Amino acid sequence: MAMLDSFNLFISIAKIIYMKERILSGLQPSGRLHVGNYLGALKNFVELQNSGEYDCFFFIADYHSISEPPYESEQKRKDILDLMKSYLAAGLDPKKSTLFVQSQIPAHTELSWIFNSVTPMGELSRMTQFKDKSEDGEANAALFTYPVLQAADILIYKPAFVPTGEDQDQHIELSRVIARKFNSRYGEVFPEPQSKHTDIPRVISLNDPSKKMSKSKPNGCLFIDDGPEEIAKKLSSAVTDSGSEIKYDAVHKPGISNLLRLASALSSKEIAVLEQEFAGKNYGEFKSYAAKTVADYFAAYRERKTKLSDAKAEKIFTKGSMKAAKIADATLLEVKDRIGLI
Ligand code: ADP
Ligand code: TRP
Repeated sequence: MAMLDSFNLFISIAKIIYMKERILSGLQPSGRLHVGNYLGALKNFVELQNSGEYDCFFFIADYHSISEPPYESEQKRKDILDLMKSYLAAGLDPKKSTLFVQSQIPAHTELSWIFNSVTPMGELSRMTQFKDKSEDGEANAALFTYPVLQAADILIYKPAFVPTGEDQDQHIELSRVIARKFNSRYGEVFPEPQSKHTDIPRVISLNDPSKKMSKSKPNGCLFIDDGPEEIAKKLSSAVTDSGSEIKYDAVHKPGISNLLRLASALSSKEIAVLEQEFAGKNYGEFKSYAAKTVADYFAAYRERKTKLSDAKAEKIFTKGSMKAAKIADATLLEVKDRIGLI
């Protein structure tokens, strides 16, 4: 009887593990992370990982990052290591998530070539990120086919969800189009992944409330490894709105509403509570409070990051890449078989 009980327990545990839905996401190693990256993506990665409900895969999209400057090899190595350490310092844990590097898994780029053959040019031409990024200057082909590689990154692991900020929705939608096109030509292989957003899927720029905070516009960014003085300086000069009331109104007061959202997310105080606390006070007072909240929140992160060695970070990601490669290689074999390449 005891043996039967243990057997049943084993089966139940195996079922829970087996049935966990998979999530996958990545960031480009293209410079320092800002609070938009953190609140729209990285914080979510950590929370989803710690919920224990998902089989988690997070990676460094280094191949994507070579579609834009900087192109210096030393800088690239530094950016990759820095992102590895940011993931770990923010709380991603190799015991709970598979952490890996895109370029260490050739199956991603192989699948991306295959996906080129089912992707309509028209779909790629209407991607807003490509249009924005190719606006001022001659765009390279990698910038154009970027979403095809992104679809390969995603679909090769057959995840249920892809946690990102709102600006990536169009790319996730394209990965569903590519899955459908492939499945209808060669038979069902890929499930269609869904986006997964945080409560703050679009943090706006500090100096232009009509734009999202973006690494390509560093003046409007609050970086998560900025020191307390820098944070205070940037927030004190953040563009706010006419009037003086600390009140949430995303349409008429986008600047102060953005700061209220940031302060609320990083202090776990409801926006309404902050509004009450700052009733009758001025923008300056609220900005000082927001600066202290941001600086305090990221202090532990900054401390953990400085303690991580390059060697340790690299070791973790190499091990994770070996694990991820097994899954990616298996999907690629299945795909090649369907096409008739093997
Ligand atoms: P950037 O535009 O700063 O270069 P990336 O394109 O590297 O940022 O985005 C990395 C991740 O961070 C993506 O999941 C993206 O959706 C998210 N993200 C980027 N900017 C913001 C923002 N301002 N608000 C919320 N999420 C964001
Ligand atoms: N395009 C994403 C960004 O700029 C990075 C990325 C590449 C990605 N491949 C992905 C995100 C796959 C999610 C899933 O942030």
